[in-house]
Amino acid sequence: MTQSPIILGIESSCDETAAAVVRGGEEILSSVVLSQFATHQPFGGVVPELASREHLRAIVPVVRRALEQAGQSYASLDAIAVTQGPGLAGALLVGVSFAKALAWAEEKPLIAVNHLEGHIHAVLLEEKQRARAAGQTAGLRFPLLALVVSGGHTHLYLAHAEDAMGSRGWTYQNVGHTRDDAAGEAFDKVAKLLGLGYPGGPLIDGLAAHGDPAAVKFSFAQLKHPDRNPQGARKYSGGQHLADFSYSGIKTAVLRHVETHSMAAGIEARRAALAGIAKPRAADVLPHCDQPTLDLIASFQRAMVGDLVRKTLAAAEACGAQMLFVTGGVAANSALRQKFEEEAGAAGLPVFFPSRPLSTDNAAMIAAAAYPKFLAKDYASADFSAEASLALR
Ligand code: KG4
Ligand code: ZN
Repeated sequence: MTQSPIILGIESSCDETAAAVVRGGEEILSSVVLSQFATHQPFGGVVPELASREHLRAIVPVVRRALEQAGQSYASLDAIAVTQGPGLAGALLVGVSFAKALAWAEEKPLIAVNHLEGHIHAVLLEEKQRARAAGQTAGLRFPLLALVVSGGHTHLYLAHAEDAMGSRGWTYQNVGHTRDDAAGEAFDKVAKLLGLGYPGGPLIDGLAAHGDPAAVKFSFAQLKHPDRNPQGARKYSGGQHLADFSYSGIKTAVLRHVETHSMAAGIEARRAALAGIAKPRAADVLPHCDQPTLDLIASFQRAMVGDLVRKTLAAAEACGAQMLFVTGGVAANSALRQKFEEEAGAAGLPVFFPSRPLSTDNAAMIAAAAYPKFLAKDYASADFSAEASLALR
């Protein structure tokens, strides 16, 4: 083993084929992400069969490019890490089969990583980098609450590790999750319904700044739970859920608003106008949005952000969290970052996000999450397989 182990990470859980080489759990030597955006864009969402096919095409060139950019070879790696789940079964299987074959042929240890743990370690990786640049060591404080908010998940995890550097023995308890749609899914569905394009999150993020967030009122039904206290969070006594999210209702509320405000014709015109642009950005969409549409977008975003922040901070208080990590694709949202910074700051709770490239799916986070497992020699057995609904513990 070299002093700073070099790990190749491979990620194929959804619609990005990614490979990265990370040294010592924090130094990114390369991070290659190939998006299947063009394949899924005409469908306004990820088509699982197409995702698997695209991963099959991309996996070898993406891994080769990651090694080249890092100046590494298969032989110089200390371990290979791969996303085991959760995600699309066929998509996961491509990464897992490739990683198993590679580890076997090169006689390298293979490490199975939970995708959600990867998102959490994206934050840790950059916090370690920042601390090192400042001549400090990353001081983690536990329990740490992590909100993983993406296209597939809106989950709260209470995390512990054996040491303050986070190099050993991470364990997680799921203390909150969505009852139906994930937050990113709501951004994507609302964007599709308004004819903005795909994926919806970055477009809504860019357009919301041009609208009035107070124009349309959305309310989230309070999900009943037997031991909820009046503030919405429950006193934590270990093991139980502290927050429930639910984002399918807001999509229906947007649809109802569209119908009652006769916005359908405008939406069709926008769809037609944007059809020729391969990957529309907010600046391309903006000239095709009237003020009521921009107000609706801004109001939707404000409602989503308000709900995520309020429930997460109530859960953090209930379980005495010492630090907050906000990660996953939706953590790239500017309004979400700003609101968390303001409100967690006011509550005296330090909050950390990954940089935008590390917020969405990537393989550097998989290699980083594998690092403590590598140190503990927590290797995957030869018969391990992809697990579409793998839980994080
Ligand atoms: O983590 P990720 O890349 O993939 C999953 O594991 O799901 O997250 C993708 C999700 C998509 O739903 C996308 O619309 C959303 O993250 N997203 C955003 C932003 N950037 C990406 N949502 C809101 N604001 C953004 N800036
Ligand atoms: Zn993800």
